[in-house]
Amino acid sequence: MPRRQNQPQHHSRRPSAVNAQPELIRWGVIGPGRAAGRFAQGLAGVPNTALHAVWGRNPARALDYAQRFNVPHLAADIPSLLAAPIQAVYVATHPDTHAAFCCAALDSGKHVLCEKPAALNVPQLESILEAAHRNGRLFMEAMKPPFFPLYQKLRARLAADPIGSIGFVRAGHCDSTLSPDYPLHFRELGGGSILGIGPYEAFLALDWLGDLKRVHAIGRLNEHGVDSFALFQTEHARGMAQLHTGIDLLSLGDALLCAPGGYVRIHANWWNPARATIHYRDGREVLLDEPFLHGGFNYETAHFCNLVRGGNRESPEITHALSLAMARLLQDARLQLGVQFPGE
Ligand SMILES: NC(=O)c1ccc[n+]([C@@H]2O[C@H](COP(=O)([O-])OP(=O)(O)OC[C@H]3O[C@@H](n4cnc5c(N)ncnc54)[C@H](OP(=O)(O)O)[C@@H]3O)[C@@H](O)[C@H]2O)c1
Repeated sequence: MPRRQNQPQHHSRRPSAVNAQPELIRWGVIGPGRAAGRFAQGLAGVPNTALHAVWGRNPARALDYAQRFNVPHLAADIPSLLAAPIQAVYVATHPDTHAAFCCAALDSGKHVLCEKPAALNVPQLESILEAAHRNGRLFMEAMKPPFFPLYQKLRARLAADPIGSIGFVRAGHCDSTLSPDYPLHFRELGGGSILGIGPYEAFLALDWLGDLKRVHAIGRLNEHGVDSFALFQTEHARGMAQLHTGIDLLSLGDALLCAPGGYVRIHANWWNPARATIHYRDGREVLLDEPFLHGGFNYETAHFCNLVRGGNRESPEITHALSLAMARLLQDARLQLGVQFPGE
């Protein structure tokens, strides 16, 4: 298969002042499904990276992925993937296997970007963070919204022309169009709307309102024992949030941030943010319009690659503490509805 690389072949592990070409980051993918396809689309927009290896448990699907994205190394198993000349692994299986694959990759000395939610529950996330620490490798949960141009523009605009401290966040999303075999319907895959959709809502509330104090959830379960709809209210250091997630209804998918001096609406789909309107108390309305490129996974991946190049072991944006706080919020909400996963 032809070798794909997003920028010139020439690279240096330790860029000098004379040769400032950033280090080439070669990636391996575990779990070539929907998210991994969008990761490959995004990586094509990140300079000095290459999608070098892929492993999937279904050989036909892995081959199809390798052919679609020109991945030169189709690994027969995990050890073969981890022995490939890659620096970073993207884990995009379902949450029930994130911990096992992340720990294997970290123990082999690779840096890991793992899809949201980073793990099924808090203890599994702690095991991943321990593996990252033990091996001195970078681990980051793939929580993409803050890296989008719109989100960064919104933060900058509110810093320059403030509305005051955000005290209420309302956000949520329901999608009843998912096919009956979609992984979110099943308990054994770590499904349910809270774990599948809720990581974004948890991120937004924690990002604007600070540390979590408590969660109160109500909802309903489907015939497989996972939440098909959940409504949860959270109290934080600086305010409160009302969040919802669902897979048996349809909802808009926008987000609202309220402050004394005005409010912000991040237009749907807020987790792929491209437009927001700031409504100031004095009547002004400011529309921010920042389209995203390459499907949007490219921004978090570029951030991750730069952290690798800089020798960092934790993202300053998606910190380990933030991932743990998201996991705790989601776990509390889910357990209040009686959703437990196998082995818990
Ligand atoms: N950031 C985003 O915008 C975004 C979007 C979608 C999903 N996600 C996240 O990405 C993850 C995957 O979701 P998806 O929609 O991409 O699922 P998907 O399309 O079903 O792909 C999952 C992949 O993992 C593989 N897999 C599943 N269980 C496995 C196991 N036990 N051992 C080995 N491989 C296994 C699947 O193999 P088979 O093909 O053999 O089943 C498939 O290759 C989830 O955590 C989800 O929340 C993120």
